[in-house]
Amino acid sequence: MIIAVDGPTASGKGTIAAALARHYALPHLDTGLLYRAVGYQCAASGGDPDRVDDAVLACGFPDALLADPELRNEATGGLASRVSVHPAVRQCLFQRQRVFALQPGGAVLDGRDIGTVIAPEAEAKLFVIASVEARARRRFAEMQEQGRDVSMADIAAELAARDERDRKRAEAPLVAAPDAVLLDTSELSRDAAIAAAIAMVEAARKGRTDRL
Ligand code: DC
Repeated sequence: MIIAVDGPTASGKGTIAAALARHYALPHLDTGLLYRAVGYQCAASGGDPDRVDDAVLACGFPDALLADPELRNEATGGLASRVSVHPAVRQCLFQRQRVFALQPGGAVLDGRDIGTVIAPEAEAKLFVIASVEARARRRFAEMQEQGRDVSMADIAAELAARDERDRKRAEAPLVAAPDAVLLDTSELSRDAAIAAAIAMVEAARKGRTDRL
């Protein structure tokens, strides 16, 4: 079974995807991490993330980079969003994601375009959303836990800028697949969001079996 979990940054999609992977004993790929690695590598090697040639060159990042905690910070998220605008970068990362999705037994992938581009045939598609306030609150708590000194206002502004860029890009913009189910986590606890996601996957599976 392929499960696609898409949605904006800090919506809870990563937590939900990881929990679904555990629940169904499936491998999980956080596809945002690939774009983060490209953005980070590009900037670290003196490139300009807005220049397609520099961004494509950074697609050859070493796999070890994926474990670097620097990839998780907000600044790298911004770089990722900038390199992800280039169709050539998306093309470079396509095969890796597609192969992961098609492995025997299935997989859970989370990102922005899993249900629309990477695995349109996914059995279950979730589009996870949350209000900007809820997302900024969560990101702020995360940053505080990591001992990072950032203001709530800066986080909210960065989230809004990232959403705008991810939604408006010409190729594979952040948009729910027509057959995706919407999960709004604004008012849900972590456990309640996970329980709702499992129920949605079960409903999608049942719907498919009923149609057979
Ligand atoms: O999910 P994330 O915050 O780690 O993603 C970082 C950026 O990467 C996001 O702003 C847009 C880009 N991205 C993408 O374009 N397509 C994906 N499937 C995943 C992430």
